Amino acid sequence: MFTTKIIAVILCCLLVSSNGLQPSTCSNQGDGNYGCFDIASQGSCTEVSNQPASRDIRWPHSGIDSNIDWAIKCGDIIAYKIQWFSGGWSGWYVPGVNDMDTKVNNGNGLRRMWSYFYDHTHSYIICKTNDSNKLRGCQ
Ligand SMILES: *[C@@H]1O[C@H](CO)[C@@H](O)[C@H](O)[C@H]1NC(C)=O
Repeated sequence: MFTTKIIAVILCCLLVSSNGLQPSTCSNQGDGNYGCFDIASQGSCTEVSNQPASRDIRWPHSGIDSNIDWAIKCGDIIAYKIQWFSGGWSGWYVPGVNDMDTKVNNGNGLRRMWSYFYDHTHSYIICKTNDSNKLRGCQ
């Protein structure tokens, strides 16, 4: 009886140790990919196309704040396009790279091109955290 229990415990341990290999115990992977890591915690990105004018005044009123996307959209907008009233689309704007608007707000406050999300159709690629790291109030 006692021996049976011991054997059961040993079998259990073997099972756990062979299934639960941790990155720290992996052998050097060199240039190869032996799958001995876990990237499940990373976030994910999606393209959101043809969004109607948001009418959210925070877009034009937030100046050059590059984190207003987190406040309004719960994520990191990494690139976006604007559809002008002529019907044509802008090229890609990337926050902090090429998205300064030549218009200014009152007081000479600079703004980003995403100011036009307020009254223009727009598309963007947004990256969000893994669900387990969601900010309160975000979906
Ligand atoms: C979030 O990360 C955990 C690991 O930290 C992972 O198990 C889970 O699948 C991830 N969720 C999504 C939706 O990717």
